[in-house]
Amino acid sequence: MTLENEYAILTNHLTKKFKDFIAVNDLDLKVKKGEIYGLLGPNGAGKTTIIKMLASIRNPTKGKASVLGEEIPDGNIASKIGYMPQETGIYLGLTVDQNMKFYGRIFNLKREEIEKREDELLKFVDLEDWKYEMVENLSGGMKHRVSLACTLIHQPELLFLDEPTVGVDPELRESFWKYFQQLKENGATILITTHYMDEARHCDRIGFIQRGKLIAEDTPANLLKNSGKDSLEDAFLLFSRKEDKDLKEVMA
Ligand SMILES: Nc1ncnc2c1ncn2[C@@H]1O[C@H](COP(=O)(O)OP(=O)(O)O)[C@@H](O)[C@H]1O
Ligand SMILES: [Mg+2]
Repeated sequence: MTLENEYAILTNHLTKKFKDFIAVNDLDLKVKKGEIYGLLGPNGAGKTTIIKMLASIRNPTKGKASVLGEEIPDGNIASKIGYMPQETGIYLGLTVDQNMKFYGRIFNLKREEIEKREDELLKFVDLEDWKYEMVENLSGGMKHRVSLACTLIHQPELLFLDEPTVGVDPELRESFWKYFQQLKENGATILITTHYMDEARHCDRIGFIQRGKLIAEDTPANLLKNSGKDSLEDAFLLFSRKEDKDLKEVMA
């Protein structure tokens, strides 16, 4: 099997600078097809910038990446990816139904197909009774569910979910992870970012991101084992301190 067949995402020295500031630093990331890969790190670590480059919204300053076998940003993959931005991508002044139809049309789906997908997805995210409600009248958690449903309308193979559970109460967060698990079971690959260390245990693999660098990567169980810690939060702090120490030694 070639690398492109096995991996949904492959990056090579991927780097993003904003003037002199390095937001993403020499990133080599490999996400296997069919896995849920979590980018985990504090605010400002570079997670959104990584996602935006992979979704072809921002151009890398240096390095390369291939997504579903195509070089970005030129690859023709828009119809195969779903992107749920950190800031909401849905229209507050439209109803749930209008938002979903709008996304369906962007992806050139036929009317019957949109109707069918819409019904399936509203059931999936438990919003059947809210189809004709204006989005601005919905709670924060419901807006997130609408946003997720819109992201899924064209059945993308690869999902970029940027902090989909931020501001969502813990109970609903658990049900979001059930949705993600179901999407994976249906064959999707998911790259998800979060700064909630506890929920990252649901990922197949995690990459710890600090100051734009991948400082450790493994399954949640192995990260705990290799750090000797009980929580991913403590494991992150350990790897982060180690990284700082290594950096100081290099600079000395
Ligand atoms: N358009 C921009 N111009 C300048 N700096 C930016 C821009 N976008 C992001 N940054 C900076 O890059 C760093 C990484 O940001 P971001 O990728 O949003 O991190 P995260 O998603 O992990 O919170 C932050 O320090 C942020 O301020
Ligand atoms: Mg972010």
